[in-house]
Amino acid sequence: MTDHRALRDAFGCFATGITIVTSFDEAGTPVGFTANSFTSVSLDPPLLLVCPGKSASSLPAIRKTGLFGVSVLSSGQRAVAERFAMRGVDRFAEGEWVESESGLLLLEGACANFACTLAQDIDAGDHQLLLGHIDSFRSAFDRQPLMYLKGAYWERD
Ligand SMILES: Cc1cc2nc3c(=O)[nH]c(=O)nc-3n(C[C@H](O)[C@H](O)[C@H](O)COP(=O)(O)O)c2cc1C
Repeated sequence: MTDHRALRDAFGCFATGITIVTSFDEAGTPVGFTANSFTSVSLDPPLLLVCPGKSASSLPAIRKTGLFGVSVLSSGQRAVAERFAMRGVDRFAEGEWVESESGLLLLEGACANFACTLAQDIDAGDHQLLLGHIDSFRSAFDRQPLMYLKGAYWERD
């Protein structure tokens, strides 16, 4: 029997950035959640990975539209990260959002934004591995990222 607390702590030793994964449902209502399970995968073809929990409320919308956006948060965007992990709030009330060509909301002021088409949806225990084909992206290399390590946010000016 795995000690979940101990395993969570072990995973938490790996420093990550923070992303907001977005999509929209059948009514066109935007959905999204905070995720640090982001990984760059491939340059040719351009692919990235994010891992939503199987019960993540955004997962059905991502599957239905076959589309998701990823915004890599900048230092100073911690409030967005916190809001997108809360329930019962309008998550998009925090931050400024712009619409991609495919209708995905992407965060202004982020270090990087990616608009993706769902390429593979792979079963992985209590999470899914979503491989996204990057249809468009932009980045602001001079911005400092928001980082996450051992359950705490790290910000730089
Ligand atoms: C720093 C941080 C990182 C997170 N990373 C993930 C993640 O990679 N995958 C995930 O499913 N949820 C992650 N969560 C939790 C989600 O943001 C969210 O709370 C959870 O998916 C429930 O979403 P729902 O209320 O839309 O179902 C993270 C939360 C925080 C605060």
